[in-house]
Amino acid sequence: MARETSSTQSYSEKWYWDDRYTNESDSFDWYQNYSSLSPLINLYLPPHPTHRSLVIGCGNSAFSEGMVDAGYEDVVNIDISSVVIDAMNKKHSDRPQLKYLKMDVRDMKAFEDASFDAVIDKGTLDSILCGSNSRQHSTQMIEEVWRVLKDKGVYILITYGAPNYRLRLFKESSRSWTTKLHVIDKSLTD
Ligand SMILES: C[S@@+](CC[C@H](N)C(=O)[O-])C[C@H]1O[C@@H](n2cnc3c(N)ncnc32)[C@H](O)[C@@H]1O
Repeated sequence: MARETSSTQSYSEKWYWDDRYTNESDSFDWYQNYSSLSPLINLYLPPHPTHRSLVIGCGNSAFSEGMVDAGYEDVVNIDISSVVIDAMNKKHSDRPQLKYLKMDVRDMKAFEDASFDAVIDKGTLDSILCGSNSRQHSTQMIEEVWRVLKDKGVYILITYGAPNYRLRLFKESSRSWTTKLHVIDKSLTD
């Protein structure tokens, strides 16, 4: 893989994230933190003792920690970067409600069909869309998200992308997504 690609184009590459997490180990949340987003998360996913959530492209964000503090009891996290998954496993070894697995969101065969009540994505579809073959990779990702979700499951996508462009990916999908859009005014949540 040529490493001279521009920075945002590299957001879809494992080597980029491994390098970044090797050099930046402090917790960092892209876009918004859990407390800013919790009213919205609660709307679609109120804490429930038997519900299982999947956070895709978790990075070293404190978002899933925030979920567990708020009462979510089974939060599975995946990321393509083995560096960040090793670090998060170490950091949260005393919290059985949090699990961290190295996995590519475009190929989640380790999970059975219909195994999650919710999939939460903050910045990961955005990262995949920065790379080459972005349409093909985002389609693979959205198909996999559909497959692992239960019948009444919910995909909560927190994105920086233009709403029409993101919604189009779901409208043009082979699956019957029902979409709801919330636009967050950044100035109100910081
Ligand atoms: C913009 S960061 C967001 C991190 C975190 N969700 C947050 O909100 O702070 C994107 C994350 O997606 C991960 N990622 C990129 N491509 C991925 C893929 N194909 N499968 C799983 N994770 C991926 C990166 O390693 C990175 O941690």
